Amino acid sequence: MKNRALFLVVVSGLLGFSWSSLAQPVDQTSHLDVNQLFATTCGWCHNDGGRTAGKGPQLMNTKRSDDFIRNRIKHGKEGAMPAFGSTFSDADIDKIIQYIRALKPEQP
Ligand code: HEC
Repeated sequence: MKNRALFLVVVSGLLGFSWSSLAQPVDQTSHLDVNQLFATTCGWCHNDGGRTAGKGPQLMNTKRSDDFIRNRIKHGKEGAMPAFGSTFSDADIDKIIQYIRALKPEQP
């Protein structure tokens, strides 16, 4: 049934079905680019994308709870860290927390 397989390929092509979309799930909640964010906004104080301490503490391997991190990002800390509550949605902050949890030392 060679023709049938060919038919399916053609039809899925016509429907605009993209096989690569299977491999890369599309994020529908937050379009924040966290790497970029840390390189610009947070990197002033959380060096190396949060891997090492700068003006702010190291974030990699943090023992803080998600709630603590969420709270700190939203409300900042007087005289230490600006509040970002009006900059980011909750979905954005979820993504930032995931990013922090996934941090690994940079390979040399
Ligand atoms: C002006 C410097 C500065 C910037 C910019 C900044 N932070 Fe901070 N951040 C700090 C300081 C200082 C602390 C420590 C506050 C304290 O004393 O508890 C901190 C604490 C934190 C903590 C809690 C860490 C811990 O273990 O207590 C998180 C999470 C965090 N920052 C995330 C971020 C994120 C995400 C951004 C970017 C959106 C950001 N910060 C931008 C200075 C900064």
